[in-house]
Amino acid sequence: MSDAHSSPSVLFVCLGNICRSPAAEAVFNTHLATQGLTEQFTADSAGTIGHHAGHPADGRMRDAGAARGHTLTSVARQVVRDDFDRFNLVVAMDQSNLEDLLDAGANPDRTRLLGTFLPDYDDDIDTPQEVPDPYYGGDRGFEVVLNLLEAATPGVLAALQHDF
Ligand code: 4NP
Repeated sequence: MSDAHSSPSVLFVCLGNICRSPAAEAVFNTHLATQGLTEQFTADSAGTIGHHAGHPADGRMRDAGAARGHTLTSVARQVVRDDFDRFNLVVAMDQSNLEDLLDAGANPDRTRLLGTFLPDYDDDIDTPQEVPDPYYGGDRGFEVVLNLLEAATPGVLAALQHDF
């Protein structure tokens, strides 16, 4: 097992690691930069499948992110077991990703849906909003992804800051 990160860390996970989770990582890093917190936290992303491993993020997602000031720099990789020890928090984009992570041994106390960090989410009454997969749809899907990520990111940071 490699060492845990020295700073509080979050791993964003989707299916392919070329659309949603690279965007989540980039949006989180933009937020850190605007808060002057870049050196204090670590973010990464991965996919539950390795089909796109080694590839940059999908060009449509990179373009949509860049238009809002988010630079997607990640290279796709598959989640590995070690990630569950190394990251303080694992954030899944949809229910299927979450189930795959838990089946693979992720710690349920430290693995959550992105939608649970949305400002109006109430875990007593709400089913968490999923981040819909934009891969096979049109341009609007990438904007929906970014809207959700931008809305939830301050909650992800607050969770890391307060040891959720
Ligand atoms: P992501 O999107 O999980 O947000 O990276 C997808 C990327 C690739 C595929 C599906 C979703 N695919 O089937 O190849």
